[in-house]
Amino acid sequence: MNIYEKYGDVLPEILNEVTDYLKQINETYKEKHHDKLYEHLIARVKTPESMEEKCQRKGYAVTTKSALKECKDAIGIRVVCGFIDDIYTFVDLIKQASWSEIVNEKDYIKNAKPNGYRSYHLILKVKVPFEDIDGNNPGQYFVEIQLRTIAMDSWASLEHRMKYKHDIKNPEQITKELKRTADELASCDISMQTIRNLIEENR
Ligand code: GTP
Ligand code: MG
Repeated sequence: MNIYEKYGDVLPEILNEVTDYLKQINETYKEKHHDKLYEHLIARVKTPESMEEKCQRKGYAVTTKSALKECKDAIGIRVVCGFIDDIYTFVDLIKQASWSEIVNEKDYIKNAKPNGYRSYHLILKVKVPFEDIDGNNPGQYFVEIQLRTIAMDSWASLEHRMKYKHDIKNPEQITKELKRTADELASCDISMQTIRNLIEENR
């Protein structure tokens, strides 16, 4: 048995269900506006090993309860959008949806992290026809949704790569270059949005 114990079996099912809801939001939007809201979407259940590592890192007891209730990203979906406005539109549509309740929200686009990280984070609580750790059925599970542009996503992958290499010779220089590049990409995202708006206005 791993840290998720018997609850591990339902996590992929909940992941698929929420992913389908998000895809449906995109389809409905496409029918109405003839334009997609995101380029692609990545869905994953955090591996038991990295969940154990996270509990330890955060100082939580390494228990199923910590994995499902203290950590709220056992189930995670990343939505990668073409434009900044699409992120905010998508967030609004998720907020309007009946299947979810938003329990936490962080706008790292308006308030970028000091290292330059940008993304919009939502933690949802979803009701599902499975037992949860508190013995409720229907049960409640948390799902983390990260929304970002293509530029923010490629930056985050690069930065993530550095974080897990502990033998880097020039960390200060790389950190500085990463921050500079994050700000340049953010400026490009704004320009891309402005161009798209101009195209729309001049149709
Ligand atoms: P975690 O416990 O690490 O999940 O962070 P948190 O609970 O403080 O929440 P936060 O919203 O800051 O981060 C949640 C997730 O966003 C992380 O697990 C990463 O996937 C992503 N993230 C946050 N900050 C960074 C960052 O600086 N760089 C990268 N590459 N990803 C980040
Ligand atoms: Mg996380």
